[in-house]
Amino acid sequence: CYLDYIKFIGVIFMKISVIGGAGYVGLITALGASSMGHEVISTDIDEKKVQNLKINVSPIYEENLDSLLEFCNSKNKISFTSNSNEAIKESDLVIISVGTPTKINGEIDLSQVEMVTKYLINSIKNYTLIVIKSTLPITAVNVMKKELDSKFESGVDYDIISNPEFLREGRAVHDFYNPDRIVIGGDSNKSINILKEFYMPLINRDLNIPNNIFVSDKKIPIVETNLPSAQMIKYGSNAFLANKISFINEIAQICESVDADVNDVIFGMGIDPRIGKNYMQPGPGFGGPCLEKDLTALVELGNHFELEATFMKAILERNERQVELIFKKITNEVEVNSEITILGLSFKADTDDIRNSASIKLINLLVEKGYKVKSYDPKAKYTLNNQKYTQYNQIYASIESSNCIVIMTEWDEFKNIDLNKVYELMDTKIILDMRNLFDKNNDLINNFNYFGIGN
Ligand code: UGA
Repeated sequence: CYLDYIKFIGVIFMKISVIGGAGYVGLITALGASSMGHEVISTDIDEKKVQNLKINVSPIYEENLDSLLEFCNSKNKISFTSNSNEAIKESDLVIISVGTPTKINGEIDLSQVEMVTKYLINSIKNYTLIVIKSTLPITAVNVMKKELDSKFESGVDYDIISNPEFLREGRAVHDFYNPDRIVIGGDSNKSINILKEFYMPLINRDLNIPNNIFVSDKKIPIVETNLPSAQMIKYGSNAFLANKISFINEIAQICESVDADVNDVIFGMGIDPRIGKNYMQPGPGFGGPCLEKDLTALVELGNHFELEATFMKAILERNERQVELIFKKITNEVEVNSEITILGLSFKADTDDIRNSASIKLINLLVEKGYKVKSYDPKAKYTLNNQKYTQYNQIYASIESSNCIVIMTEWDEFKNIDLNKVYELMDTKIILDMRNLFDKNNDLINNFNYFGIGN
């Protein structure tokens, strides 16, 4: 089948299916592949999302995603379906982007991966390259291989490649077209070369995308390695990023006790090129579907091989404490029964995703302790069946008569808020800025009882 690819002026266009194609990674990968000239079938079990995608309605909010979806649909190089078996039958390359959520007991839920393995066993007809984009536990890939080997011959009927994604929510479209690196982990040169061919239009910047999407001409490094190393690159990267956040949050906490300013500390530390100042912003702790999950997976992997992952555990424990510390700051300043306004529900700016969001944990804690909580977010929604909690559609309405504002997400709208108006609207003038959006020496901020983080 590989030989059947349509060769067109030296570039090989492939038939691709993306399983889990309505999810975050899957949708962006499917659209990205389509914009590279490949013929893409994007499949998802959620029929409603599939129907919506056909009419340009995206299930998630992400910068430039709507225009990319509309553009790709208009070029007829992508289709959306819930029939994964049919899609796999027609594909040379199957990209797996299904979810791997964490269960309540901390184990990774592999049910979606197990289902995809069944589709593959039912539907592979010719040589198929299986590309794993989801962050799968290393042990799970071995299980998948074993099941496929009960029917097929590895290297002849199929190969598995790990090709981890490094997309950030809120910047995912940008990150797809401007990757810092492409990591390809596989057991044979043949499989690695096919995936390199798949990426050739991106590497050569030969893309069919709307004008508003930025594409730099920086050379994209390709890292070729074996399968577990590619997976460990992904786990190691996310664990290291999480480590930076827990580290700087702890430094910020110490700064508060010794009267130091964490912003100056980050600046002074970051000048050393071995340290750098990127990804060192203290805040309410890391949230979202990835960092915590991947750290937990490393802890599990450690348990599996009887190697206690003490360092990973410490990163997680430090992160869990962050919301409690914010809660303590609030209770020091505001009495129970007071009105608190939470600005920002999503786990970070520019996304509507509230998974593992520190804001949600804080809201639940405040309501449970008897505070009246009002919230506002430009995109995210959170409902709670409790009279003590209300979400507002308008920022100033959420602030009116409030005793304390807690800024939890770094949305631009909050940075540009009219502080004079806020001052007029509030009952008691307390701001807890857990993203350090404001300069504490700003004259207008000085009118408030203002607390940043680590300064
Ligand atoms: C993360 C990684 O950054 C991506 O490279 C990776 O592809 C993705 O996980 C994944 O595995 O799918 P993401 O979770 O979307 O991306 O968001 P980040 O920008 O990494 O932020 C994670 C959390 O850390 C957020 O809650 C954010 O507010 C917090 N953060 C980030 C800080 O508190 N301080 C910082 O300096 C940076």
